[in-house]
Amino acid sequence: MNAMNRLALAISLAFPLVGHAGEVEVLHWWTSGGEKRAADTLQKLVEQKGHTWKDFAVAGGGGEAAMTVLKTRAVSGNPPSAAQIKGPDIQEWGELGLLADLDEVAEQGRWDELLPRQVTEVMQYDGSYVAVPVNVHRVNWLWVNPEVFEKAGAQPPTTLDELWAAADRLQAAGYIAIAHGGQPWQDGTVFEDLALSILGPEDYHKAFVDLDEEVLTGDRMVQAFAALKKLRSYVDADAAGRDWNRATGLVIDGKAGMQIMGDWAKSEWTAANKKAGEDYQCLPFPGTQGSFAYNIDSLAMFKLSDEDDRKAQEDLARTVIEPEFQQVFNQNKGSIPVRLDQDMSAFDSCAQKSMQDFKQAAQGEGLQPSLAHGMAASSYVQGAVFDVVTNFFNDPNADPQQAARQLAAAIQAVQ
Ligand code: GAL
Repeated sequence: MNAMNRLALAISLAFPLVGHAGEVEVLHWWTSGGEKRAADTLQKLVEQKGHTWKDFAVAGGGGEAAMTVLKTRAVSGNPPSAAQIKGPDIQEWGELGLLADLDEVAEQGRWDELLPRQVTEVMQYDGSYVAVPVNVHRVNWLWVNPEVFEKAGAQPPTTLDELWAAADRLQAAGYIAIAHGGQPWQDGTVFEDLALSILGPEDYHKAFVDLDEEVLTGDRMVQAFAALKKLRSYVDADAAGRDWNRATGLVIDGKAGMQIMGDWAKSEWTAANKKAGEDYQCLPFPGTQGSFAYNIDSLAMFKLSDEDDRKAQEDLARTVIEPEFQQVFNQNKGSIPVRLDQDMSAFDSCAQKSMQDFKQAAQGEGLQPSLAHGMAASSYVQGAVFDVVTNFFNDPNADPQQAARQLAAAIQAVQ
């Protein structure tokens, strides 16, 4: 070995990561107080591997704004290394030929063995991994402030009738019954829960995955719209435009009794040092007890030319599946780990219940993709549903029967 080689070897032993140091730019919309804490854990772990993290956070719940920004960046030929892209949208980006192949990382990490089949299928385009799953969120939750419930003499609801009864009590006692943020994706989230409750998982699937016209215009869909109308009467006058985390804040602060939201809401309770099962309760959304509407966050990787950045990107993908990340990130984010072998003992009671329900629902029809969070259908269908639902929600004279017909027509138009 000559002197130069010896020097190179010495340097590589002293600074093992320097040769691999690259930059990862990560686009996401985890900007609420609690979610930012979760995102920070990923940044820290990537930096520990010697890479530079370039945060590309685009505020806006549900990610619509983030997707718009991503498209602009991609069109100009300058996409980030990784972006929070989910569900069927991954296929669309794959078709554009922009996504990187992660098969080697996936093979080394045994993703096929560690991850549920429902997850691995979504992460692949044309038989190759192009995205790494971060977590599993459950959308059909109801978040309850038990102290407020007690003061109002309300009971935690398990059916829709009980939900209305609890809301009546809360309202009569002067509380906001249901903390809501009037944004299309939040209206869509609430509507999805009502549809899952009223249609049941099989017809929910026919409506929002198969886009079956008969179910979309059927009696139960009409009932779901009627229920949304009823729910509207339990929302306060300032709901329009309110961010989801501010709605969560109203429940945390005891101004409202409950919130219908996916378990990213738990990130706010956790950040406020509140304890699951004591300071707050997580209940499956009334009437959806055996079902689990899933929303899997994933980071899709874009093709890169710089070798160091590519290595950094692969390290990012590896890190995401590691148990350490899965634990700390998900404890802060409110979701459950995507690995089936993860030790859940350090998680709170809501996460433990969620994992148990996920596994159980996966054995039958109960496990269903969330439409409002881009897991069930394309972003075009999702957008069409949001339009109809939001218009309905904001029009006091809207007719449920007509809304169901409009829903089917709007979906048909974007296919
Ligand atoms: C979802 C996303 C979650 C959370 C939520 C609120 O679509 O999957 O991680 O960020 O939006 O913005």
